[in-house]
Amino acid sequence: MQRFIDKVVVITGGSSGIGLAAARQFAAEGAHVYIAGRRTAELDEAVAAIGDRATAVQADVARIDDLQRLYRTVQAAHGRVDVVFANAGLVVNGMLEDLTDEQYQRQFDVNVKGVLFTVQLALPLMGPGGTVVLNGSIAGIKAFPASSLYSASKAAVRSFARSWTLDLKGRGIRVNVVSPGPTETNVLQASGYTAEQVSQAKDHLAQAIPLGRMAQADEVARGVLFLASEDSSFMAGGELFIDGGIAQV
Ligand SMILES: NC(=O)c1ccc[n+]([C@@H]2O[C@H](COP(=O)([O-])OP(=O)(O)OC[C@H]3O[C@@H](n4cnc5c(N)ncnc54)[C@H](OP(=O)(O)O)[C@@H]3O)[C@@H](O)[C@H]2O)c1
Repeated sequence: MQRFIDKVVVITGGSSGIGLAAARQFAAEGAHVYIAGRRTAELDEAVAAIGDRATAVQADVARIDDLQRLYRTVQAAHGRVDVVFANAGLVVNGMLEDLTDEQYQRQFDVNVKGVLFTVQLALPLMGPGGTVVLNGSIAGIKAFPASSLYSASKAAVRSFARSWTLDLKGRGIRVNVVSPGPTETNVLQASGYTAEQVSQAKDHLAQAIPLGRMAQADEVARGVLFLASEDSSFMAGGELFIDGGIAQV
């Protein structure tokens, strides 16, 4: 399939995991892909893996000036954005009684504020036919111990898609959410878990998933491309769960 020939796609958190898998698939289908992340070495590695249809821009989604610079770079080269995948996110864990102001800020600055301004600042470059995909999570509709900040952040992301569908009514821009279940990526390590904690969490999650395993990032990315493409032309404000059934049964 070549659904994205010469489309301009911006992916935050495109240097790893689900974002990188999506970047590879978009590029393979003909898109120019801009990937953003904080660490330049990982971005450079990702560009090498994706190929010459990828451009990296170092940016922290929690910083509005970084996002402005990202879109200035895209505008200078292409003058427009066709697809935004607001994907960058992290997990901050803690039981209610232990949560701190710093943890709250860190979780919501990246997962909520970052998504808000990633999309808002793209709008001047987007026209009719543009699509926005937000990365939610099954955590947006489910509870896990010590995960209230993360779950609340993802519930906010899911809510954004509903409200923005109305705010963008008439502009021909569709917004939808992909909500993965547990997926084999670096998200837990990146969020400060020890190797033992990651291994325990993976075992526990795999047992709880009806399909008996975690997702591969490519399986989630295929859903992202569906939501970003004309294949989902009558979806708006919706949510696509790719979760092996864990949040469905
Ligand atoms: N893996 C799962 O089980 C799972 C399940 C449901 C939802 N999700 C969601 O999927 C999304 C991607 O996570 P992943 O699992 O693919 O994790 P990952 O492999 O850790 O990738 C996260 C990406 O986000 C980037 N990132 C993190 N903070 C950022 C910031 N402040 N500014 C810019 N980029 C930032 C990271 O690069 P830098 O660190 O270099 O910035 C990296 O490229 C997240 O929103 C996560 O909540 C994951």
